Amino acid sequence: MSEELKFPDGFLWGAATSAYQVEGGIENNNWAEAGRAGRVPAAGPATDQYNRYAADFDIARELGHNAHRFSIEWARVEPEEGRFDESAIEHYRDVLRALRARRLEPFVTLWHFTLPIWFARKGGFQSRQAPETFVRYCAYVIERLGDMAKFWITINEPMVYVTGGYLPKSKKSSFNWPPFKKNLFTYIKVINILTMSHNLVYNRIKADKPDLQIGITKNNQDWESNKNPAYRLASMFMKWFWNRRFLDKIAERQDFIGVNHYFHRKLGEKKRHPTNDLGWEIYPKGIYNVLAELKSYAKPIYITENGLADEADSKRARFIKDYLYWLHRAIQAGVVIRGYFHWSLIDNFEWAYGFGPRFGLVEVDYNTLERKIRPSAWEYAKICRSNKLTAD
Ligand code: FCB
Repeated sequence: MSEELKFPDGFLWGAATSAYQVEGGIENNNWAEAGRAGRVPAAGPATDQYNRYAADFDIARELGHNAHRFSIEWARVEPEEGRFDESAIEHYRDVLRALRARRLEPFVTLWHFTLPIWFARKGGFQSRQAPETFVRYCAYVIERLGDMAKFWITINEPMVYVTGGYLPKSKKSSFNWPPFKKNLFTYIKVINILTMSHNLVYNRIKADKPDLQIGITKNNQDWESNKNPAYRLASMFMKWFWNRRFLDKIAERQDFIGVNHYFHRKLGEKKRHPTNDLGWEIYPKGIYNVLAELKSYAKPIYITENGLADEADSKRARFIKDYLYWLHRAIQAGVVIRGYFHWSLIDNFEWAYGFGPRFGLVEVDYNTLERKIRPSAWEYAKICRSNKLTAD
């Protein structure tokens, strides 16, 4: 028996990317620098979206999307401290124009993991001056581009950022990120500086432009445990520490919550569910659990990332339908959810994994940079166009 599940009117459907992962040609940020030093892979020309954005947005439109999330590269806009590059801003204005022309509602991330080298050298977000520096950059972008987009994301996945860069335990190479300063005190300090940074930016933007909608994107995981009391306690701790603590600290200063959802962990149990190409468990109900937890914040929620590495494209269509089924269940349970952005529109540079994992609705041939729409993208397109899911 198949069931038709309708999504609320005006629901936003799209896909997400970030600058360093797709643009190409960014050499003045701390990831490119670490790439040159051989500590992480380098993105180099990536997918060349810096030059090909219009054609990529044509594809998004063709796939029935009505929204798109991308990020602005801080190192392009402020290549040296306090010197802003007008041509970079003009470029992003063109990008926003191209989205608007295709009726794709922009969600703009101001900072997605990568730092200008000058800022990283001054200690990045470890420095007490960081919030002011970040506010200055954000205020500049908003002053110049605030008329072009309503939805702005200050920080992408703060907890993932600090874990990759600062948490001692995660030394495995896939999660050893710039600035490679694995120290617990610094880890906690950076979390606090990030919350301050967000709150300052929020105040600053809202004072000038109260209509803009400001939030962060938060990587939230579905933490469960077996019956062992120690694991139970650990999963409760993680629900608070990983999922909620940052949101609590910015609770008064967010107009919406952006949720990036990838992970399900049942502490005390081995993996029992199918996995993607990176070994990440596929557990669709996890998105329901994560969304239900956020209901108490009483803010509109957008899924700003959800997706999988699946080079063969054999699991993606099912994945999308199953996660959307559980997202719809969360809406029925009273959680206010207004949009879904699949990660990602196109294959891209996956941080410490380099170009191996394939997250795109659209495949990229890295020799020719040719784009090829994957079959699952058309399945997603049916849902986007009709604003409903036929659950089977
Ligand atoms: C998220 C990041 C995004 C992408 C996906 C797979 O943690 O925000 O840049 O790498 O994971």
